[in-house]
Amino acid sequence: MHSFKELSQLFAKHFNQKHFPEQPSNLYEPCDYFLQIGGKRIRPVLCLLGNELFAEIKQDAFEVATAIELFHNFTLIHDDIMDAASLRRGMQTVHTKYNSNIALLGGDVMLIKAYQYVGKIGSEYLAKILAIFNKTATEVCEGQQLDMDFENQEIVLLDEYIKMIGLKTSVLLAAALQIGAIIGGASEGNCNRIYQFGLNLGIAFQIQDDYLDAFGDPEKFGKEIGGDIKQNKKTFLFLHAESIANAEQKQQMEDLIKINPTDKVEKMLAIFKECNVGAWANELKEKYYQAAMKHLDDIAVTQVRKKPLVELANFLISREQ
Ligand code: IPE
Ligand code: IPE
Ligand code: MG
Ligand code: MG
Ligand code: MG
Repeated sequence: MHSFKELSQLFAKHFNQKHFPEQPSNLYEPCDYFLQIGGKRIRPVLCLLGNELFAEIKQDAFEVATAIELFHNFTLIHDDIMDAASLRRGMQTVHTKYNSNIALLGGDVMLIKAYQYVGKIGSEYLAKILAIFNKTATEVCEGQQLDMDFENQEIVLLDEYIKMIGLKTSVLLAAALQIGAIIGGASEGNCNRIYQFGLNLGIAFQIQDDYLDAFGDPEKFGKEIGGDIKQNKKTFLFLHAESIANAEQKQQMEDLIKINPTDKVEKMLAIFKECNVGAWANELKEKYYQAAMKHLDDIAVTQVRKKPLVELANFLISREQ
């Protein structure tokens, strides 16, 4: 059994290599730039953990883990265009450093590279894993569209927000675990349980991301604080504040939505604080964390084998980066 840290190191050995050729350099250099900055590499490690929960890690798990991390990086490059984000992982985003066309095409070629890695796995489960990969990738697109639709939608319910973050974020964490479990030879039932664990954990993870987007330390978080507020994202912070705000605060929020992005962050943050969104964040996160743990409990393997997953789950919901 390996810890999260050990698996991160094992994965890095596998992943930190040249994925792209030299030419055309305007296509590949931005991809190299983005990949070498790093990131937490949570999803590939979840894939390895999903495998190791049931059996010794197989080479195929490394191939899919690589595919998943490349896919994730592709979504980030495109997401930063959609969200007009200038900073990621403490560095300039690809479309800011280069331009949007380069970021679009770089993302595209990274997605293709991801599929090339999926294609390397054993034929005994290739079709099954490819189907999960395709379903997940489609759902991420659906989640991303809802996320953007909500920017301009006046009324968004908490349930709709949860559904949206489930699609844009959780399904990839869940699929990473499930694919790992399939490679580890887990039963159908256990594959479903680990998927449900990931789905709930992923929701808690995105809740923490949305919280940090408003209240994080930019040095640690590596993204611009208030980015979601600037984009009028309907995060649970916004939805909760709106639901308990008094008439004056409500009016302020409505007015802030309409003004120039740079002028609204401080004022919106003040309203969030007045509405005590921090406590609500913890409550909501805890709910999904507990649901995740319940699904993990239902998997009949020894506690020892689950320990690294539990540790990772704890890190994900309390992280500052
Ligand atoms: C960022 O994911 C996108 C979200 C779904 C919140 P991560 O926080 O895992 O990003 P990196 O890969 O570590 O930079
Ligand atoms: C991103 O959600 C989800 C995907 C990239 C699919 P966010 O837009 O909240 O992620 P960050 O905050 O930019 O990392
Ligand atoms: Mg986004
Ligand atoms: Mg974003
Ligand atoms: Mg975010």
